[in-house]
Amino acid sequence: MKSFFKSSIPVAFLLLVAIQSPAKVKIVMSGNSIAKKDSTNESLKLISQAKRLSSFLPGQIWNDTDGVPVNAHGGGILYHEGSYYWYGEHKVAGTLGNTAQVGVHVYSSKDLYNWNDEGIALKVSDDPKSDIAKGCVLERPKVIYNQKTNKFVMWFHLELKDQGYNAALSGVAVSDYPAGPFTFIRSFRPNTGCWPVNVQKFHKRPVSDTIKSAYCGGKDCLPAHPDTLNLLGRDFKKGQMARDMNLFVDDDGKAYHIYSSEENSTLHISQLSDDYLSFSGKYGRFFSNRYMEGAAMFKTTKGKYYLIASDCTGWDPNAARSAVAESIWGPWKELGNPAIGKDSASTFHSQSTYILSVSGKKDSFIFMGDRWDPNNAIDGRYVWLPFEFKGGKPYFKWADEWKL
Ligand code: DGJ
Repeated sequence: MKSFFKSSIPVAFLLLVAIQSPAKVKIVMSGNSIAKKDSTNESLKLISQAKRLSSFLPGQIWNDTDGVPVNAHGGGILYHEGSYYWYGEHKVAGTLGNTAQVGVHVYSSKDLYNWNDEGIALKVSDDPKSDIAKGCVLERPKVIYNQKTNKFVMWFHLELKDQGYNAALSGVAVSDYPAGPFTFIRSFRPNTGCWPVNVQKFHKRPVSDTIKSAYCGGKDCLPAHPDTLNLLGRDFKKGQMARDMNLFVDDDGKAYHIYSSEENSTLHISQLSDDYLSFSGKYGRFFSNRYMEGAAMFKTTKGKYYLIASDCTGWDPNAARSAVAESIWGPWKELGNPAIGKDSASTFHSQSTYILSVSGKKDSFIFMGDRWDPNNAIDGRYVWLPFEFKGGKPYFKWADEWKL
């Protein structure tokens, strides 16, 4: 330690400033995780606390205010009472990180650049019988706040432990506080015994014996177009498949669950119940045979709904898609790849996870994408880029660094 201080006058100066500044000490002490750390670590964290970020650096390692890389993949943001909360999959190193070993990590921020570690919002269970047993697949967690119940409600894509991606379930958890802890309520498939608003006649006919109970989830697995296979009818009684997912709360407080269904071939948009804990029974199916994954919705002050999504190519990036509608129930009109310029064919090596509406800035939206690393999941990076609009079409381009 002695030589460290000797050889590093600027760092020593920062440490001194940090120790002398009650505000900085307070911020550092406010994170759940910090309280558990020893005093040596805390000194180092005070140093990194002094290095505050003032811009976005897409694709680069993004350290939290403790100087540790943010671990919140497939994430989403909640804005509540002046703070942003970033929820995401906590990944561990290696391929083990493609399964849930820890749970959903949450961070808080006032400025979107600097994120405080608030700890694990939802922990996986040590009980092997639990739906969220350690080793399950728990992806794309999103949290919304319900004004009527004063509860924070988390939804996520859940696959049961050791069952690959066959279960295609939605998980729900609830908390009294934005940073949790969240309590797992249940997992289930959406819309059991309900037909969508745009059901077609053939969906209600008996399902052919040739329709298998499961396909591979990829684009080339279905033997025919999903509109002739009737996967909707196949899953009518047990509930519709729900994999990649997102949430959207409209201006009237109604919330929607958006998910890849029918073997990933078709996107479903389902209205949630008033308490956000289940489904209202009203839903629609859209983009049939387009295999939309990573879907994320936002709405402009002009009242237009936009949807950003990816193609379905596993962990590999692909060209993003965009679509617009006057009503959430469609018709949806595709607008093409919203990414423009070099590397737009791979969405700058990323896949959409959420579109963040910046508080207090009219029609200011941020594309949030993941740069997955399935061989070393913890090293996945984040690509956040600002949307612009031209002729009613949203687009974003690459920037090495940018500010709000
Ligand atoms: C693509 C999805 O978008 C991810 O969330 C994840 O489920 C991977 N597929 C798994 O291959």
